[in-house]
Amino acid sequence: DLAGFPHYMLKEIHEQPESLRNAMRGRLDDENATAVFGGLNMTPQQIRTVRRIILTGCGTSWHSALVGEYMIEELARIPVSVEYASELRYRNPPIENDTLVFGITQSGETADTLAAIRETKRKGHRTLAINNVVGSSIAQAADGGIYLHAGPEIGVASTKAYTSQCCVLAMLALYFGRMRHLSFESGQRIIEELRMLPNAVAEALRCDATVKEIAAKYHEASTFLYLGRQYNFPTALEGALKLKEISYIHAEGYPAAEMKHGPIALVDEHTPSVFIVPKGTTYDKVVANMEEVKARGGPIIAIASQDDPQVQKIADDVITIPDAPGLTQPIVSIVPLQLLSYHIALLRGCDVDKPRNLAKSVTVE
Ligand code: M6R
Repeated sequence: DLAGFPHYMLKEIHEQPESLRNAMRGRLDDENATAVFGGLNMTPQQIRTVRRIILTGCGTSWHSALVGEYMIEELARIPVSVEYASELRYRNPPIENDTLVFGITQSGETADTLAAIRETKRKGHRTLAINNVVGSSIAQAADGGIYLHAGPEIGVASTKAYTSQCCVLAMLALYFGRMRHLSFESGQRIIEELRMLPNAVAEALRCDATVKEIAAKYHEASTFLYLGRQYNFPTALEGALKLKEISYIHAEGYPAAEMKHGPIALVDEHTPSVFIVPKGTTYDKVVANMEEVKARGGPIIAIASQDDPQVQKIADDVITIPDAPGLTQPIVSIVPLQLLSYHIALLRGCDVDKPRNLAKSVTVE
């Protein structure tokens, strides 16, 4: 059921305010300024003993793991490592006791993620799944887990599952944080920020008309660069993946400051750079990176905060997003990039819901 939308991908992009509400429903505990999860199957005492976390997945789910790494380290101060499931399953890394392993997967059927979870569980580590499909293989294989409740995702390009994964990881970071040093007040503030998220995403969706114009201007480019820092470094990777998979345009995502260590050689007047540059901690640094691209004649599309004359002066095109604090910012800033890839793919005559060579879940390794 397309509910009046021309494609599932567009429908699912627009469902995000609602899917985020569903991810949070019943999981924010105001009284204790924390999050609650029904299915972790761990006592508070067991959770207290966790000393390391591994987040593993593939594709877009791996990108959400990168966002989760920043979130959990910032709020809970637990060291996190992010692993490609396909590498983790064969790499045989030394994993310390008291390590918790999360498999992140929309479908719950991705062969490599499933195998990585089975292998780490076999070695005696506690495994948990962050998954969208109730009763999926991973839900059965892991010791416990958290459902996304995003509803079915039909478009091959993951959109609403990604933002829900990030949202669940933010709540997990809050939960682990509140088991440790995070104060009641900080917990309350984070709950407030999370509650503002669905409306912020709804507001970000209003950029559609602007994004459409930008897509018309750049849809014939053959390479795009996506650049962002901190919480928006994974946004850059995810924006580039969205463009690659549905429009077949070559795109690279990088932490913005890495650009000068190589990718800047790609910059010319035909290669657009998409900068994710909302106001925040590394804002000035990203602006400096934008100047470097500008000086080399590269067109710049900026995803920026409203009322940012500095960015408006440098960038050729600006898409504004509502202000959101660090933790929830990547969930808002990905929205215009999902729409950008959608509109570019349409203009190139691509089948956005069923891109060539791709399947919705990759059940072979
Ligand atoms: O179902 P999963 O989340 O495990 O799928 C993992 C990847 O195959 C998936 O995210 C893929 O990268 C998407 N097509 C991205 O849009």
